[in-house]
Amino acid sequence: MKKILFVGAEALPFAATGGLGDVLGSLPKALSDMAGDEADIRVVMPLYDKISDKYKNEMKFVCSFTVPLSWRNLYCGVKSLEVGGVTYYFIDNEFYFKRGPLYGHYDDGERYAYFCKAVLIMMSQIDFYPDILHAHDWQAALSVIYAKRKFASLPGYCGMKTVFTIHNIEYQGKYDFAILGDVFDLDETDRNTMEYGDCINLMKGAIQCADAVTTVSPRYADEIKTQDYSHGLHYILRENEYKLFGILNGIDTELYNAKTDPTIAYNFTDRSLAKKTANKNALQKEIGLPERADAPMYAIITRLASHKGIDLVKCIIGEFVGGNDVQLVVLGTGDKEYEGFFLELEDAFPDKVRALITYDRDLAKRIYASADMFIMPSKSEPCGLAQMIASRYGTIPIVRETGGLYDSIKPYWEDGKKAYGNGFTFANYNAHELLDRLYAALELYRDNTKWSKLVRVAMKTDFSWDISAQKYLEMYGNL
Ligand code: GLC
Repeated sequence: MKKILFVGAEALPFAATGGLGDVLGSLPKALSDMAGDEADIRVVMPLYDKISDKYKNEMKFVCSFTVPLSWRNLYCGVKSLEVGGVTYYFIDNEFYFKRGPLYGHYDDGERYAYFCKAVLIMMSQIDFYPDILHAHDWQAALSVIYAKRKFASLPGYCGMKTVFTIHNIEYQGKYDFAILGDVFDLDETDRNTMEYGDCINLMKGAIQCADAVTTVSPRYADEIKTQDYSHGLHYILRENEYKLFGILNGIDTELYNAKTDPTIAYNFTDRSLAKKTANKNALQKEIGLPERADAPMYAIITRLASHKGIDLVKCIIGEFVGGNDVQLVVLGTGDKEYEGFFLELEDAFPDKVRALITYDRDLAKRIYASADMFIMPSKSEPCGLAQMIASRYGTIPIVRETGGLYDSIKPYWEDGKKAYGNGFTFANYNAHELLDRLYAALELYRDNTKWSKLVRVAMKTDFSWDISAQKYLEMYGNL
């Protein structure tokens, strides 16, 4: 039986700030379902105080030990909980993880260095030496580095292979060399591995040390080898391209299922689309927009950050909403500049626009179930899950052809009586290309038969983990 340990900073349903949490909450289960008795898949993450008591009370205490990190000797408790057939371990140290927000603390480097060291020591304490250590994003990068540079010669650890997955190359974990020994517990012989552009770069170190590097879509795997997308890491990725793969994420199709989702007003399938309209009316009532079934509703659900393409939206959305009989619902928090922009837009068009400046997963699902079009014009998008979730709820994505958006959404076009594609797409980071696609969607929406057909295609597109889980298992096998 193959033993695989996922290492990451967040996983649903316990704690998440973004898509990484979705993936660590659903991929392990998909792998475990697919591999059956052939693989034992487990996950380890920090025990944050944010995790709800409902889960904390169910956790079992596994063991405790001391973690040496440079001159520090630190307490580590390990707790565990099984969810959906997958064992999750939680690294307990209140000094590091009883902090409110998951990230953004002055000592994040030290917090995750401790976490990674604790994960490696945990293996011997619980007698679970994985065949594959699969680390995710910069917070888990040091687990790969420690595995190769510190533990590889120890019994139990020596045959272990490592995989490092990049969910977002923008966040790399960059630190001054002054803390190489003092905080990261590495020495001058590790300097070359860690050095990139005059500082310590944890992501670069993991890319260097891992047996395989993956990212979350094939297109993004190509993009990050170029200067435009790499945030400086293209040299190292080109050097290592022989071990770089892109595997598209899936989503949890049980969690995001319009037929059974208990958080939406009316459940529906691709055969009962009238109930999707009923959801729209219920949402309009909830958020105070005119209750009109015939007004096409565009939605944006995102972190309000510049790489999500909000600048393009800013350029053209006033003109589009002002000149057309449409509604726009925006849900998300982020840069104050963007939050302010959408609030002002709502002031200018109170009967057409709602700016919901909040993070609310249930409200998000009600919007996915209600809207007609979903706008996602990202400047870069490693994978993106929202376009897949929107599709599952029959809301047609309008996306820029980048990263996972390119790999998951194909442009709508007609050839005689046949229609192809599952959304609207544009190539260049250009506001007028986006505007053009908003109009194309509006035009098609007016043709009820064609639109309903497209909605059915979108709802039926396979965004499950099946294909990707197979690819991960193959890669583990090859290692
Ligand atoms: C990050 C990326 C997003 C991806 C997610 C899960 O949040 O920005 O594109 O879908 O990770 O891999």
